[in-house]
This record gives sequence, C-alpha cells and structure tokens, in this order.
Amino acid sequence: MKRIAILSAGFLFLLSLSQCGTARRGVPMFKPLALEAPAEVKGEAVFMSYCQKCHPGGTAGLGPAINNKPLPGFLIRYQVRHGLGMMPAFKKEVISAEELDNLMAYLKELRTAKE
Ligand code: HEC
Repeated sequence: MKRIAILSAGFLFLLSLSQCGTARRGVPMFKPLALEAPAEVKGEAVFMSYCQKCHPGGTAGLGPAINNKPLPGFLIRYQVRHGLGMMPAFKKEVISAEELDNLMAYLKELRTAKE
C-alpha cells in the first residue's frame, strides 16, 4: 500500500513537471512596439486586418518572416499589390494607397522589434 502511494506520488510529480512548460510562457516574445507616428498606428490596423494571419507579428506563419530582413519598400509594395505564390494580391479597392503607406511605416517599425 505504501509502495503504491510512493509510486503514484512519483508519477504525479513527473506529470506536473511535464506540464510546467517554460518560464517564458505568457511572456511576449518581442518588446512592445513604440508606435508614435499616427501612420504607424494606422498601419498596425491594416496589418492586423490583412497580414497578421499569415505573418503573425511579422514572423513566419503560413508566409515567411518579414521582420528579419531589409526588404526594399518597392518590393514589399509590389508583393502586396500583385501577390506571389500563396500570398494573395491586395488591390487598391482593398488596401488604399494611403493605407499601404501607413502599412509600410508599420512594417519598418516591426523590423526594429527584437527579442
Ligand atoms: C494567405 C496568407 C498571406 C497573407 C494574408 C499575406 N501574406 Fe505575405 N506572404 C505569404 C506567402 C506564402 C509568402 C511567400 C510567397 C512566395 O515566395 O511564394 C509571402 C511573402 C511575403 C513577403 C516577401 C517575403 C520574402 O522573404 O520574400 C512580404 C514582404 C509579404 N509577404 C508581406 C505581406 C504583407 C504586407 C501582407 C498584408 C498586406 C501579407 N504579406 C499578407 C502569405 C501571405
């Protein structure tokens, strides 16, 4: 009887270890962005609506990371307007010229977010 109690205590201990996860759980991976310019704040809303689901926080998801390399602006604009592979195109009717400008400002800021 005592033996079973010790065994099950050990088992519960192991179980609790396996469920602990890392100490970082719940801690954001990146420092919060310091969005100061109104364009960056508006750009964030555009990003959340159209890009977040495939490039979560600018990192890789369904699409590759876009916060870790200095992609030239014209290339990003081209990719957004025309799409590539799995990435859909976003026409002017979806993301206006002004919204794209704001998005670009936000993406630039996103690149400065480091762990
Ligand atoms: C449906 C998922 C999806 C959405 C939504 C999406 N992307 Fe993408 N994105 C991708 C995929 C997939 C690729 C890789 C395309 C390829 O190279 O074939 C990509 C590539 C890119 C690249 C080029 C990255 C590189 O390393 O060459 C940029 C920049 C980019 N996306 C920006 C955006 C922006 C900005 C938005 C929002 C307007 C957006 N994406 C929305 C899936 C998506």
